[in-house]
Amino acid sequence: MRGLILSGGKGTRLRPLTYTGAKQLVPVANKPVLWYGLEAMVKAGVTEIGIVISPETGDEIQQVTGTGDRFGAELTYIRQDHPSGLAHAVKSSQDFLENSPFVMYLGDNLICDDLDRFIEQFKAESLDALILLRQVKNPRAFGVAEVDEQGKVLRLVEKPQNPPSNLALVGVYFFSPQIHESIAQIQPSARGELEITDAIQHLIDGQHAVQAEELKGWWLDTGKKDDMLEANRILLDERCELSFQGTKDDQTHLVGRVEVGKDSQLTRCSVRGPVMIGRNCILEDCFIGPYSSIADGAVLRGVDIEHSVILEGAIVEGIDSRIVDSLIGRRAKLSRAPSQPKAYRFLLGDDSHIEIP
Ligand code: G1P
Repeated sequence: MRGLILSGGKGTRLRPLTYTGAKQLVPVANKPVLWYGLEAMVKAGVTEIGIVISPETGDEIQQVTGTGDRFGAELTYIRQDHPSGLAHAVKSSQDFLENSPFVMYLGDNLICDDLDRFIEQFKAESLDALILLRQVKNPRAFGVAEVDEQGKVLRLVEKPQNPPSNLALVGVYFFSPQIHESIAQIQPSARGELEITDAIQHLIDGQHAVQAEELKGWWLDTGKKDDMLEANRILLDERCELSFQGTKDDQTHLVGRVEVGKDSQLTRCSVRGPVMIGRNCILEDCFIGPYSSIADGAVLRGVDIEHSVILEGAIVEGIDSRIVDSLIGRRAKLSRAPSQPKAYRFLLGDDSHIEIP
């Protein structure tokens, strides 16, 4: 079994962060989203993994993720020249996939469950596709499935106006090489993309074995700010551990599960976990509340923050009010204006969002 991780796309819903970087590299609990899928595959014994990248963000993904040594995987980067859909990404990967069955993971998706039991089922039942479904409140935003009581998939529709159920297609799929023949038969959808949903429907129409499993644990699609914060909250809840590798003065108090990376310095701070603080951070006179992740090299002085994500190298200083539910981009600078008259001064990127009381 091989693995395929799709990591192209434009990330329009996460702008402005994705103007300068790939959406799959935005960190959840201080780790790029993409790496969770990669690690899940390796844990299930899938180590030959292709990563589909775009010309715009591919170099950055390759540079950050590397050859795969650190994951115990052998990574092959596959260039998809234009974002023409998930099925097109599979088509672009045929040389890598050869005749092997494969698990495909969308690089901005995260699931709670391990992959091994699905791989076992896929093999034991000799399936051509095993898809994962999850009940959602807004099925119109996803691929939607209609299944019978045995979990056999009857019909799939991509982003339907009138959803036949509330079961959304999760971005993790298991395929036999039969999928390539279906992909070769389908036409682009109304949004101009070769949809994997249509390719799976083609398998169903051809009487091939397509089965669905409903996920009971969490599934996160980190496409938007609030989804990112939610993913961060869940991952901190589940995976944050007590570990302190930095330095702190005796006026700094850590409560609950707090992880602090190497060479970070905390002075007169109160940190209430779960919180992850990366390496080389400087924190002075701060309150860091639950569900916050602070990436490497961030500097926070005189700040009260909770349920927020601060990315690499950001500087936040002297903000009077508590910062909540916020996502602050790499090297962003947020500080108090030094002089009178009291005024706001902004240099905001396109598509930024600011809320002022
Ligand atoms: C894609 C799939 C959709 C699936 C979703 C999961 O949508 O086309 O069927 O439900 O991923 O994240 P997209 O993210 O391309 O809009």
